Amino acid sequence: MSNPDQDGKIFVGKGAKREFLALPFGNRHGLVTGATGTGKTVTLQTMAEGFSRAGVPVFAADVKGDLSGIAAPGEAKDPFVKRAKDIGFEYETDEFPVVFWDLFGEQGHPIRATVFEMGPLLLSRILDLNDVQEGVINIVFRYADEEFGKVDAANKGLIDIKDLREVLSYLASSEEAKAIAARYGNVAQATVGTVQRQLLVLENQGATKFFGAPALDIHDFMRTGARGRGTINILAADKLMQSPRLYATFLLWLMSEMFEQLPEVGDLDKPKLVFFFDEAHLLFNDAPKALLDKIEQVVRLIRSKGVGVYFVTQNPLDVPDSVLAQLGNRVQHALRAFTPRDQKAVKAAADTFRPNPALDTAAVITELGKGEALVSFLEGNGTPAMVDRALIRPPSARVGPVTAAERAAIIAKSPLKGRYDTAVDPESAYEILQKRRGGGAQAQPAGEATSQGEGGGLVGGLGSVLGGIFGGGAQRRGRMSAGEVMVKQVARTVGSEVGRAIIRGVLGSLKK
Ligand SMILES: Nc1ncnc2c1ncn2[C@@H]1O[C@H](COP(=O)(O)OP(=O)(O)OP(=O)(O)O)[C@@H](O)[C@H]1O
Ligand SMILES: [Mg+2]
Repeated sequence: MSNPDQDGKIFVGKGAKREFLALPFGNRHGLVTGATGTGKTVTLQTMAEGFSRAGVPVFAADVKGDLSGIAAPGEAKDPFVKRAKDIGFEYETDEFPVVFWDLFGEQGHPIRATVFEMGPLLLSRILDLNDVQEGVINIVFRYADEEFGKVDAANKGLIDIKDLREVLSYLASSEEAKAIAARYGNVAQATVGTVQRQLLVLENQGATKFFGAPALDIHDFMRTGARGRGTINILAADKLMQSPRLYATFLLWLMSEMFEQLPEVGDLDKPKLVFFFDEAHLLFNDAPKALLDKIEQVVRLIRSKGVGVYFVTQNPLDVPDSVLAQLGNRVQHALRAFTPRDQKAVKAAADTFRPNPALDTAAVITELGKGEALVSFLEGNGTPAMVDRALIRPPSARVGPVTAAERAAIIAKSPLKGRYDTAVDPESAYEILQKRRGGGAQAQPAGEATSQGEGGGLVGGLGSVLGGIFGGGAQRRGRMSAGEVMVKQVARTVGSEVGRAIIRGVLGSLKK
């Protein structure tokens, strides 16, 4: 037997019994933890290969470059051959369809989102804005919708950070500022100044490349390649790791895009897409509370879209409790227990497992060898299995990095070649407002009738409907279930981009 996977199950390793990740529970999320050098990335690779074999596309952040080898055929190295034999199968190398991505566009296709797609609430969370500043961002979106909605139905003129900055400054300091204040509420110079400074933080981390066009169509992450295998999308994240806020921005945007664009699905026999985020602590470490809440919420909601999220990090304590509670499939590699603090972490990690009378979980965590782990996957009706001490299956593709030449060759024959590689800078808010400031009289962009067009009316109308239902404090207290119903109702009635922006608004305002 050369491939030990079974129907509907990914073979992950073997302990007292063979351990499988059941595909129907693939969207119930997961966690891979362990000290440095204990086998986390290799386990991630094994799981990603398993999903791909089963036809499930994968998206994985490659933090150290050592996951990129998944794009190259494996080699039958002795330790792998032996490990395979130990756990009951004959080692075979294999190949998987891989697409490389890079937010900076250097080591793969660039990934971009427009400012409009990010939406006012996510933006405010990422910029860590207070209510007043968030109010200004909301005015930016409302103003842009009314002013530019006719010329740019998809993005309302809000493509890149330059557009956002220009609208912000226009609201506060143009000749129109008074009229705008009368219509939307006052926009104080000082508030705009603070928001602009927060934008600078994001820009300094490289966000200027991320916000732009052509924006990613998330369906491009959900392709299958040769032999019906799920495409493994590898994001070069080495440089990105130095920009934790951009990394968090990107991750959150990606998950909310999934949430907003994918239909609600019932229980599937396998996930539609699985994410792996290596070095996940970077995501949680500096994140403001509001952002953490948002991550928790999106992780919780995305499951019903058939999307699984797997965090990879050194210690389970790196992950906030509320998120941890949602991660059903667990692989715990070795932890060290030198200091009292280490010991506490070991104990905490052990306590997250369903005990096995035959194992002293906490003791075993400190004894595990490389590529060995305590595992517990969801089984039966979705309960965690009793913890087992297992040897992890070696990956079938290469372990370690691809060379620059190999990467270039794979990029050159990518099925997505040419689609995102060149940035475009269409006429958007920046250009239009610059002209308007210069030209004075030409206050209306070409093709636009009046700033009170139907688009604006629609926003106003829906806004008040939502306001009526969620109104005031109720908005903050609103229960998720009620919110989800609302989101669905709005989605049904409004298929437009404006509708999507508002759905973002609704989603963003929900608290847990
Ligand atoms: N399942 C396995 N079978 C055989 N060898 C393994 C296995 N898992 C890990 N190894 C060996 O251990 C080495 C280190 O593993 P890996 O890179 O996954 O560690 P890590 O926990 O991701 O470390 P870091 O925290 O430094 O990123 C691998 O290069 C490989 O040689
Ligand atoms: Mg690693």
